[in-house]
Amino acid sequence: MEYEILKYQYANKDIDVIVMQNMHIKVVVSSLGCTIISIFTNDKYGNNDDVILGFDELDTYLQQDKYIGAIVGRCAGRIKNATFTLNEKEYHLAKNNAGNTLHGGNVGFNQKIFTYAMLEDGIDFHYLSKDGEENFPGNLDVHIKYRLVDNTLIAEYVATTDADTIVNLTNHMYFNLQGKGSVLDHELMIDASNIICSDADGCANGVLQDVSNTPFDFRKSKRVGKDIDEENEQLAIGSGYDHYYVFDRSERAVVLKDPISGRVMEVSTNQKGCQLYTANFLDGKLKGKKNWYFKAREALCIETQAAPNAIHTEVEPSTILLKGNTYQATTVYEFKIEGGEVD
Ligand code: GAL
Repeated sequence: MEYEILKYQYANKDIDVIVMQNMHIKVVVSSLGCTIISIFTNDKYGNNDDVILGFDELDTYLQQDKYIGAIVGRCAGRIKNATFTLNEKEYHLAKNNAGNTLHGGNVGFNQKIFTYAMLEDGIDFHYLSKDGEENFPGNLDVHIKYRLVDNTLIAEYVATTDADTIVNLTNHMYFNLQGKGSVLDHELMIDASNIICSDADGCANGVLQDVSNTPFDFRKSKRVGKDIDEENEQLAIGSGYDHYYVFDRSERAVVLKDPISGRVMEVSTNQKGCQLYTANFLDGKLKGKKNWYFKAREALCIETQAAPNAIHTEVEPSTILLKGNTYQATTVYEFKIEGGEVD
C-alpha cells in the first residue's frame, strides 16, 4: 500500500488527510471523525470514480450535520428521550434530535480529531472519549482501523472502558456506485428477514417486523426505488428507508450493485444488522465534490451496527460494554465489477 499525508488547519484544528492506495482501490480519509472522504474504484469500462459522497473543502465537514463519511459514536442512532439507565443510575444526554439523542449527542465522534499511526496496509486511528463526554459514563478508549486488502476496505473497531457504559459504533458513508445522480436504480440485496420498526420520532422501538410482502423485503436483489414510494406507515415515518435490518447471516449480508457502471459492493460484518438509510434528509443545500448539491435518495448508507436504541428495547442490551470487556466490530466492504475483476 502506498500513502501520502496532507496537513491542514481549520478553525484552529489540525486536520490530516491520508490518501491510501493499492493496485485496486484508493481511499482518502481524514483524522476529523475518521471520515472517509473518497473511495475510488474502476467501473466496467475502466473509468475510475469516487463512489461515496463527500466534500472538497474540509471545513464543510465541520459545518454539516449529515455525518457524511464519518464515524458515529459513542452510540449510533437515536436514544429515546435522550436518557438511559445503567446500573440503576440515570444518564441524561443532549436532546439533539426531536427530544432524543442522535449519533452520540451534540459533539459526536464525527467531530473529534483522532490521532493515528500508519500500518503496513492501512491506518490505526485512536481517540479517548473521556468519562462524562456528552454525559456518557466511563473513559472509552477507541481504536478504528481502516485497512486495504486487495479490493476490500476493512473497518475494524475496538473499544475498552474503565466503567460500564454503552457503545455502538459505525461508519456513515453515503454510497453511490455510479458516482452521481439518483441511487434508486441501484440494486440492493439485504440478507434480513426482519426489520426493527421505528416510532413516530424515528427511534427504533424494538418491534420486529417480518419483511415478507412488504416494501422492506430485499432478500432477493431489487431496485432500491421499486417500492420506496409505496403507501406504508414505516416508510412514511422515515420518508423512505431509514430502518434497522436484522441480518439472517453476516457473510455478504448486503450486496449493492449499479447496473450502469457494473460496480458491485459486498458487505460482510460481525455486526447483527445495519441501518439502511436512503439519504432522505439530504435537501440539495450541501455542496459536495464535483459541484454536486446532494439531494434525497442520491445515495444510501449501510450502517452496520447493533440495534439503535437497544438500551431501551433489549432485555440484555447489546450496546452495553462492561468494564474489562472489549468491544470488537469488523465490517468488510468488497468492491467488484459485475462480469470482471477490479484492477
Ligand atoms: C442516519 C439516521 C437518519 C439521519 C441520518 C443523519 O443514521 O438513521 O435518520 O439522522 O443518520 O442525517
